Amino acid sequence: MAFKDNREFIRALEKTRDVVRVTKEVDWDYEAGAINRRLSETHGPAVLFENVKDYPGKRLFAGALSSWRRMAVALGLPVDTPVPEILDAWDTRIKRPIKPVIVNKAPCQENILTDSGVNLFDFPVPLIHEGDGGRYMLTWHIIVSRDPDSEWVNWGMYRGQLVTERYLAGLVHPISDLGRVFHGKYAKYNKPMPIAIAIGADPITTLTGGTPFGPIDEADMAGALRLEPVELVKCKTVDLHVPAHAEIILEGEILPDVLAEEGPFGEYTGYRVSERAPRLIFKINTLTYRNEPVLTMSNMGMPIDECDITWSCALRGIVKARLEEFGIPVKQVYAPPELAMNCIVVSTEVRNYGLANQIGNIVFSISSIALYCSHVIVVEEDVDIFNLNEVFHTLMTRCNPEKDIITKPLSMSSPLIPFMDPDDRRLGRGVKTVFDCTWPVKWSTMHERPRKSSFNMIYPEFIQKRVLRNWKAYGF
Ligand SMILES: Cc1cc2nc3c(=O)[nH]c(=O)nc-3n(C[C@H](O)[C@H](O)[C@H](O)COP(=O)(O)O)c2cc1C
Repeated sequence: MAFKDNREFIRALEKTRDVVRVTKEVDWDYEAGAINRRLSETHGPAVLFENVKDYPGKRLFAGALSSWRRMAVALGLPVDTPVPEILDAWDTRIKRPIKPVIVNKAPCQENILTDSGVNLFDFPVPLIHEGDGGRYMLTWHIIVSRDPDSEWVNWGMYRGQLVTERYLAGLVHPISDLGRVFHGKYAKYNKPMPIAIAIGADPITTLTGGTPFGPIDEADMAGALRLEPVELVKCKTVDLHVPAHAEIILEGEILPDVLAEEGPFGEYTGYRVSERAPRLIFKINTLTYRNEPVLTMSNMGMPIDECDITWSCALRGIVKARLEEFGIPVKQVYAPPELAMNCIVVSTEVRNYGLANQIGNIVFSISSIALYCSHVIVVEEDVDIFNLNEVFHTLMTRCNPEKDIITKPLSMSSPLIPFMDPDDRRLGRGVKTVFDCTWPVKWSTMHERPRKSSFNMIYPEFIQKRVLRNWKAYGF
């Protein structure tokens, strides 16, 4: 059974000891953010702040999916499911989208406020990092919008900073689904774009907003991953539907003709990169929320946080499918969350010259991947790509710096890539690299192809079996 809401998920995390309820008073002004950040960097639990300064009765939940353990729980898998099995479950489930069901009555509409009654500062919105441009209410949420020319309803996750009681400003990348539809079909004709923002839905429903599924209804993908339909309810004042069991719903519009200063913000790369700049405005006309609402936050920064885990799941499936489509004898693909989505590792059988370069070209031809990812590391089948130490060992020992590092300048890139020159970042200009860690195909003799000196490669199978069988008997 999928989690109906975030509250059920939090109770499940209590059973696996993956959440801590903090009853001591915690300040929304840096303190909650600092705790959440330290937990991310120390692989700690999620946290439910039950006593936020100035906000009695309103709670703040952080770190929903910033560990593989919590991702496993969210998917309904055993908490210690190995990462490759979590990824396999993801890939299998997304092949079978499940349509949402519409309900008439929903917890997210227990309280309704409109127009001048709306005050977003009534929630314990955190000031997350030192130097942030403001208090960020939208860091783990879904923004719902509709394509005016079809039935397509998009869910996306785009950060949002409080500007005034009813206005937020956000960073929406122009090539994201919302960015393309807003600029191409609303702003161009000076029309406001109706939106609804759902905060605090169950974790799998929420993560589909932050996942590049392409121009499809993410509600169906949430159903696929939950193995159950999501319950949606119609908004009170816009013609859109939102997850019925979310905690807080903001109904409003993106204004076509006005921008507000937003940022900077501590970002997913582990750095604060983007400048304060004029960005899109989300005007909120109606606010609905559950009794005793729980606001959610993701403190992006040095891995591992929700962004890293969500994208690690999403990128792998997209890349693997595309490589297979091109006939690459790929074994495994992994976007290690520790590398902040900026690197994809591929293990493959090597049959022909130039394979690593070909793999790099295919990976970087996928816009949603090229936007965020700068590096591809290609290794042979013997490397366990889920073991980052092994990947780095391979990179340091098999990649000839003179011949095997292929750079691709003048590539598209997110403006948030830290190593790019600021002028290039503003233009969205990047550089991609392929690290070819495969042995040259012409190396065929034992002497040319160095043999790996590891337990499972350097001993005959019968010795390995004997040692493993007797391990305890040796006294280890
Ligand atoms: C935690 C998190 C925060 C994100 N913040 C932003 C953001 O502020 N702006 C943005 O353009 N994309 C952001 N993304 C990436 C988008 O959500 C992602 O590209 C998603 O696919 C967008 O939806 P779309 O594919 O429907 O455009 C974020 C992703 C996650 C997981």
